[in-house]
Amino acid sequence: MAVVTDLPNTSLEQRLAGLERMSLLRFITCGSVDDGKSTLIGRLLYDSKMIFDDQLAALEADSKRLGTRGGAIDFALLVDGLAAEREQGITIDVAYRYFTTDKRKFIVADTPGHEQYTRNMITGASTAEAAVILIDARNGVLTQTRRHSYLVSLVGIRSVVLAINKMDLVDFSQSVFDKIVADYRAFAEKIGLASFRAIPISALDGDNVSQQSARTPWYDGPTLLAQLETLDVADRKQAQDFRFWVQWVNRPNLDFRGFAGTVSSGTVKRGDTLRVAPSGKISRVTRIVTADGDIEQASADRSVTLTLADEIDVARGDLLSLPDAAPGLSDQFEVTLVWMSDQAMLPGRSYWLKIGTRTVSATVTELKYAVNVNTLEHTAAKTLELNGIAVCNVGLAHPVPFDAYADNRECGGFILIDRLTNATVGAGMIMFALRRSQNIHWQSVDIDRAARATLKHQKPCILWFTGLSGAGKSTIANLVEKRLHVAGKHTFMLDGDNVRHGLNRDLGFTDADRVENIRRVGEVAKLMVDAGLIVMVSFISPFRSERQMARELVEPGEFVEIYVDASLALAESRDPKGLYKRARRGEIKNFTGIDSPYEPPEAAEITLDTARLSAEEAADAVIAKMIEFGIVAAA
Ligand code: ADX
Repeated sequence: MAVVTDLPNTSLEQRLAGLERMSLLRFITCGSVDDGKSTLIGRLLYDSKMIFDDQLAALEADSKRLGTRGGAIDFALLVDGLAAEREQGITIDVAYRYFTTDKRKFIVADTPGHEQYTRNMITGASTAEAAVILIDARNGVLTQTRRHSYLVSLVGIRSVVLAINKMDLVDFSQSVFDKIVADYRAFAEKIGLASFRAIPISALDGDNVSQQSARTPWYDGPTLLAQLETLDVADRKQAQDFRFWVQWVNRPNLDFRGFAGTVSSGTVKRGDTLRVAPSGKISRVTRIVTADGDIEQASADRSVTLTLADEIDVARGDLLSLPDAAPGLSDQFEVTLVWMSDQAMLPGRSYWLKIGTRTVSATVTELKYAVNVNTLEHTAAKTLELNGIAVCNVGLAHPVPFDAYADNRECGGFILIDRLTNATVGAGMIMFALRRSQNIHWQSVDIDRAARATLKHQKPCILWFTGLSGAGKSTIANLVEKRLHVAGKHTFMLDGDNVRHGLNRDLGFTDADRVENIRRVGEVAKLMVDAGLIVMVSFISPFRSERQMARELVEPGEFVEIYVDASLALAESRDPKGLYKRARRGEIKNFTGIDSPYEPPEAAEITLDTARLSAEEAADAVIAKMIEFGIVAAA
């Protein structure tokens, strides 16, 4: 999954690339400070000689000053590198560290274990092939162990090492160890974790970390490091079907056109016939170009530029495969979604969905159920809060090529991006495409919108009035409609209060309901534009996102956003329906401007300052603009 496409430190990747030939294992450690996670990572770095003399000197000094071991080396201090972390005694973000042994290179993602850091853990785990789940031998399998294991299995990690730590504190008891393993096995089966390797360790003393311990004579398995060195994970990506997301089209001159990107999985050879998705076009690989010259074949993780024999259309976001092992293509999916933003996920809201190198607009069409990460129970939910996990249906504006996440992380994992802030707000995994999308086709009709509009002698459009309750939206829209009517225009008015009596009778005033309210009205307005009408929409429509979504439903120039601007004080002083008074008394919840937000437009086509203009003057101003935009002719 492409949640983290870049490591924070790319020069680190470059350095690692230099250590060619040796395989790279990315793994994540799960556990809390109390389980000894930082100590374990510090111990791994120390034992693999990844600590320099000066670091060691600093560590010894720090251990005396801040350590918890009475002056002896405190490995946790090595890892909890940030001062803030040291002083608070917690690990707060995803930290990537690397180390090598003579057998393998490692990148370890170290994430905090608490529930409020679920998103960090998902981020760290999304690129990992293995997970080390730490258990304190004194406590056994805890809620957080189950949560970590669930998240690990959710992101598709199949190699799990159960590091049962602090064995020194339970006298290296085999029966304690066996009981924990049995408990864990019962749980692992429930979440479909096929196999795991349990190792009794003491991170503090080093037992079974990189050296076989003499204190666990009953244990004859590998040490933790030996296990990590020999885990057979590197071949998984290689064994999968060839996939290549085109990152950019490299066309330095007329003689060269190459498609640059990184091989997501499988192998491509010179001479292979490739298929381009979504277009379905076919061509043959003529060259595989790298910075070090041409090569004959390229496998997973290799960055290359491919040239093809034919001049076919290939663009950024296309997915290349072999013709007989092509990805699916769909615009509706059932997915598991992890929410990563403070702003709740709202079904119906439009987000950018990025899968591979392709970005498309998408909405969650249905939140089926949320998953309690501690108990794994399914619960009903209308929205998804930070760190929440849910199974949802998503609908995309256009079909995208994909694989199920279980088959291919790079082609089945996606992120959701806020359209206004560009922040990553969610990460998802495609479970399957919804079949219904394959059974519904656009019906082509002969009488199109242009034909209908021509008959009416008008340019259809949406006049979208937004503003606080009591700002004067409906009054002004009503006057505008009358004038248009007199001028012989075919119009229709969609008014919040009225539509909420019918089509949207089932909706209230929570953020989620308002999003759905506007989504439906946007779709209805679009149909009316198709019918050739000039549509007046008068809704508070408090969120920029949904107004933007409505705008994108029609052609450029067909959406005129009209901000009916009245300050809260002004709207409240008018209070035509007495609702502000009731809201102030607490009788109405989620009232816009009082305890529910209003996001004013940033670039409305028309702003009407109702403190200055009468309703008649405001309507005149709208008509004047419509003449200017060429929507109606001057009288
Ligand atoms: S919107 O926010 O979802 O766009 P809409 O325009 O449909 O709102 O409905 C707003 C109208 O509903 C207001 O003009 C007001 O008469 C009424 N109303 C009732 N409760 C609320 C509330 N909590 N917040 C805002 N308007 C409310």
